Amino acid sequence: MQNNPIGIFDSGIGGTSIWKEIISLLPNENTIYLADSTNAPYGKRNKSEIISLSVKNANKLIEMGCKTIVVACNTATTNAIQTLRLTYDIPIIGIEPAIKPAAIATKTRKVGVLATKGTLSSELFTKTSNLYAQNIEVIEVIGTGLVELIEDGKINSEEMYSLLNSYISPMIKNNIDYLVLGCTHYPYLIPILTKMFSDNVTIIDSGEAVARQTKAVLKTKNLLNPQKENGKHSLYTNANPNTLKNILQIENESIKIDKLDF
Ligand code: DGL
Repeated sequence: MQNNPIGIFDSGIGGTSIWKEIISLLPNENTIYLADSTNAPYGKRNKSEIISLSVKNANKLIEMGCKTIVVACNTATTNAIQTLRLTYDIPIIGIEPAIKPAAIATKTRKVGVLATKGTLSSELFTKTSNLYAQNIEVIEVIGTGLVELIEDGKINSEEMYSLLNSYISPMIKNNIDYLVLGCTHYPYLIPILTKMFSDNVTIIDSGEAVARQTKAVLKTKNLLNPQKENGKHSLYTNANPNTLKNILQIENESIKIDKLDF
């Protein structure tokens, strides 16, 4: 089992921001990544749809022999992780908006959270927010349309700039000093967001924390891959593979990107 791959899935290409953190912290691990771009965005869907899509992806990863599953999607985690953990007996690791570190560090007592509707309206997010953000103000904004533009390869488009501008204006007006990125597609927007915010705003995403958690879980379960050579990586999408190729911009023979029906 130790040599089996880590399975990772997202509604699309955004979870590759997490995949990158995982392969950098765990270079000897093999991975399989599923981008369910045909069904993106998940953020507009209701809970039961998000659960059934997540189960479909997890079933495929298990069929492919994965020893653990990383849900590299805040929307899928906040809506479906409980079901996944009850359904499978391998470790399931999820990602949630990093409200806790932002709530601890904020000086203005105001924190912005940019995430999908599915995440912000989930019970799990509400619970986490109530737990850690009791004494601060959280300015929640739904990033409508951002995932679609990223999936379409339009990161640096006029449309992206104007959408982002409208989403962060209320945050700037409210004097936030931390912005929590609650969607794994959004780390690809950090270069633009950094230009839009002043130096007084720190952007937080959970990618590194998820990679650390993945390592800790594999270690505890004695599932770390003992191989000395670098891992092999297969990334699959059920839409156009060029989208994945364009966002990753990696030419490496240990990384394969293909189309797969799932
Ligand atoms: N990457 C997903 C997340 O972290 C995107 C959600 C979507 O497909 O709407 O929430």
